[in-house]
Amino acid sequence: MKLSRIVSNQNGISRKRANALIATGRVAVNDVVCREAQRNISEFCAVAIDGTVIRQAQPARYLMLNKPAGYLSATVDDTHPTVLELINPNLRDELHIGGRLDRASTGLLILTNDGNWSRRLTEPRIKIPKVYRVTTEGPITAEAHQRFEEGIWFEYEQLATSPAQIEELDECLARVTIYEGRYHQVKRMFHAVGNRITSLHRERMGKLQLNDELLPGQYRPLTAEEIASV
Ligand code: URA
Repeated sequence: MKLSRIVSNQNGISRKRANALIATGRVAVNDVVCREAQRNISEFCAVAIDGTVIRQAQPARYLMLNKPAGYLSATVDDTHPTVLELINPNLRDELHIGGRLDRASTGLLILTNDGNWSRRLTEPRIKIPKVYRVTTEGPITAEAHQRFEEGIWFEYEQLATSPAQIEELDECLARVTIYEGRYHQVKRMFHAVGNRITSLHRERMGKLQLNDELLPGQYRPLTAEEIASV
């Protein structure tokens, strides 16, 4: 929200008066004077007039969860348990998921209340690598490698996927790297080359790597370094 709107909104101050207060250096954002009335101020910043806080900073939360199979990547559902139910109720408020996993899929899931940050993680244009360990029903073919590199045509979206890589670990086991996160993307890519995924586990998104010591259903806050990496 723009700074002038925050100052005027919350205090019965007119927009004109708010702009004057800002221009004369009486408004601070996170304890630093800000004279730009049009600056966008996130909900994670405190705003003060003459040293009196008029809007508290909301605490930003960034969590890494090892998603177990059977949980929906949703906040509420009538029939299935959701990943939010795995999080302490004191931390759940306003959390959303940064890159869903299908109900049967496991592994790295990010939960946050910072929408700008999670958009950078999932936005296809930004091309953050997402790494999955997959097992398949049939052997992984040379054709699959080539087609993944070329991009697979998705009829529904009318687009080709970005070049993706397969690192074969065994005949029916591979590490796959994609750069978007479209609906059922990895499953649909294997389906397009006549194969079927029997398990899918996300290991990494950019520099966010699932910890080995995080058991299914467990979670931890991201470190400052991990947050800054996105
Ligand atoms: N691609 C899929 O098909 N499923 C997932 O859960 C994640 C990526």
